Amino acid sequence: MQKRNIYTSNFTSNNTADKYLQERDEKQYIMRLRVYKDEEEYFPKILKIYEKNIYDGFTRIWEPIIIKINTSSNNTKPLVKYNFYKYSKFDKLKDNIADSHNLRQEIEMKIGDILDKEKQYKYKKQIKNITEYYTRGLKFYVEKKRYVPHKISNAYMKLWEILSLFPELINENYDNDKKDFMVFQMAEAPGQFINCITRFLKVNRKNQYDYHWRANSLKPENYDNQKKYGKEKENIFGDDYNLIRDNPDKWIWGADGTGDIINTDNIKWYREYMLKWSKEMKQNINLVTGDGGMIGSLEMMQKLDIAQMILTLATSQKGSSCVIKHFIPFINSIKNSYDCEGFFICLAYSYIQHYEYVYLTKPVTSNPNSGEVYIVGVNFKGIDDNMIDMYCDMLDNYKENHCWFEQDKLDKKVVKKIMDFIEECFELRLKQTKIRLILSSCFYKLNDNQKNHLQCNKMLSMDYHKETRNKIFNIWLKRHKFI
Ligand SMILES: C[S@@+](CC[C@H](N)C(=O)[O-])C[C@H]1O[C@@H](n2cnc3c(N)ncnc32)[C@H](O)[C@@H]1O
Repeated sequence: MQKRNIYTSNFTSNNTADKYLQERDEKQYIMRLRVYKDEEEYFPKILKIYEKNIYDGFTRIWEPIIIKINTSSNNTKPLVKYNFYKYSKFDKLKDNIADSHNLRQEIEMKIGDILDKEKQYKYKKQIKNITEYYTRGLKFYVEKKRYVPHKISNAYMKLWEILSLFPELINENYDNDKKDFMVFQMAEAPGQFINCITRFLKVNRKNQYDYHWRANSLKPENYDNQKKYGKEKENIFGDDYNLIRDNPDKWIWGADGTGDIINTDNIKWYREYMLKWSKEMKQNINLVTGDGGMIGSLEMMQKLDIAQMILTLATSQKGSSCVIKHFIPFINSIKNSYDCEGFFICLAYSYIQHYEYVYLTKPVTSNPNSGEVYIVGVNFKGIDDNMIDMYCDMLDNYKENHCWFEQDKLDKKVVKKIMDFIEECFELRLKQTKIRLILSSCFYKLNDNQKNHLQCNKMLSMDYHKETRNKIFNIWLKRHKFI
């Protein structure tokens, strides 16, 4: 079977960044799957991974990962010149994830030979439903029970959970007077975060606030956006709930009219806009949210993450908080993503330098199969124009896996906490990858004894899961005062 060390470069801490870039461009990623002689060989492999309590993973998913980090005293500036370092602490963990993932792909290829297309589609959907429904299924449950009078999305549920887990994001207002609550929402189309905050203020803050928002996204139907990002729905979201059509003054599209936050002229334009808006309203921005995501090269995905971070720092004002989605960019099929920790540490560190404290979190409603996580910053301390210019320069010259702080200037205690968080996320991913592998293998030519051993029938039965899930869903709804 494919082993990670077959296709990764031999970086050591002595490798220079330039060498890294050169090697990266020279090497081609080749998936080397060793095909087993016959199906009999699979079972011992799966048995090695299978533990009796492996399916506890379903309910263990139901615990948010949260790490709190106070501001670091080591402040450091971003480097534009390419810089790279790697941490090998999780190589084994990543190997295990990759091994389980690759073995599953191999078994799925074999299943492809014995099942027709329709059956293949069905079994894959069944496994997806079972493994993701413990988190994403909550939205369907809420819609089915009609707890909310309109359509919602998983993004809505995730933000609700975060607002509830970290009440300091929207403090209780005990005054008799209603206060204004100002939010800048980037990468926000189609706009379910807006619906979520509207209802959260009503249900959990007893209408103590008047909610004012401004939002950004890649402008749908914009020709330049379509040329750059393609027409895929995953990158440019449409106006599914008419929030753009009905609120034209609240959607702001930046200096070039595209809404593209990777364009640093737009970042500076949004900074100006927010200063003006807060002067008009005679108060500082309270909250900045970001939910950007896209499908593209590793470099483009990392650029979007960095653009969100810079735009957050550029539009926040003293006392602001933020909730921003980011990715731990480890993707099984992209070789260079294995060296992602340096990038993620710098990303988190940029927030840590500018907020009183920061949480790194993966709420339970976040898909455990995805690298998405959220950075929550509380009490912004400010940033000057020079620093924003330096960050913009860095983004304009960005190359994949760039680490923009010098490694020896980072606070070791802070780095350790970020690494602890990454480790927990990888552990969760490993558990989930193993469960998906075992469930896929249930559809291959195993005999009845083998299937019994893996508890195939029970674990593939929706009725079995429904009962457990409904209990868990109700606990979540009460805990987070959703109903
Ligand atoms: C998952 S959706 C956001 C969902 C939204 N928060 C909600 O609750 O409905 C991701 C968003 O990222 C936006 N996006 C991706 N790349 C972007 C870029 N370069 N600039 C601005 N927005 C971007 C997309 O247009 C899309 O609206």
